[in-house]
Amino acid sequence: MLHLRETSRRSLIAGLSGAALVAGASGAALAAKQPKETKPPPKEEKKAVGAIEDLMREHGVLRRALLVYRQSAARLRAGAAIDPKSIRQTAQLFRDFGENYHERMLEQAHIFPALRKSQSPAGALVVTLIAQHDRGREITDYIRTVTGKGAVGDAEALARAFETFELMYESHAAREDTIVFPAWREGLSERQLHDMGQTFEDIEHRQFGSDGFADAVKQLAAIEEALGFADLAQFTAPRPPRS
Ligand SMILES: [Fe+2]
Ligand SMILES: [Fe+2]
Repeated sequence: MLHLRETSRRSLIAGLSGAALVAGASGAALAAKQPKETKPPPKEEKKAVGAIEDLMREHGVLRRALLVYRQSAARLRAGAAIDPKSIRQTAQLFRDFGENYHERMLEQAHIFPALRKSQSPAGALVVTLIAQHDRGREITDYIRTVTGKGAVGDAEALARAFETFELMYESHAAREDTIVFPAWREGLSERQLHDMGQTFEDIEHRQFGSDGFADAVKQLAAIEEALGFADLAQFTAPRPPRS
């Protein structure tokens, strides 16, 4: 009896030590041995995207479209063929996501008027920024028309349109990211900035149904795949010459 008790005590100690060791080595492993709860785990809440992050990641989408234009211009200049269908899809995405939503519904409806009202020095850029939105629409119309015919036509003119549009919009978005958006943010309280983030999300959902940003990224990824631009590693620069 005593022997049995002693054995049980030793087993218990050994078991406890083992458990302690397991807990020390890996709490997760121990937790995995515990009986499963019948309640389903709570759903992960969707993380809010702030107004500035929203605007800047939209620029990221537009920059990827501009890179499609830049690569296409390089191909045209090299006398190579480009796929009009994929370029037309890129132009349509720029129209829907960039021009109709990002520019008109966010920047021109909320940001530019607030900058003018607050008399921020960044407000001086607004006239040029709107002129560039308008010029961008003209170029998008041109790209859609040319590529809608199924053949490129004047390759030199199209390459020039891609290149000038890219330079204009890269300069434009870079000023917005570093001057215009920070100045707009400066004029808002923390509460107002938070509310603007919600307003932007609501506009995006009204315009695109579910998640306009995720859909736009998916569309661009498909375009990049079709054109052979999907592999990021191909853009790693070569080593510089030895100096
Ligand atoms: Fe803009
Ligand atoms: Fe913008």
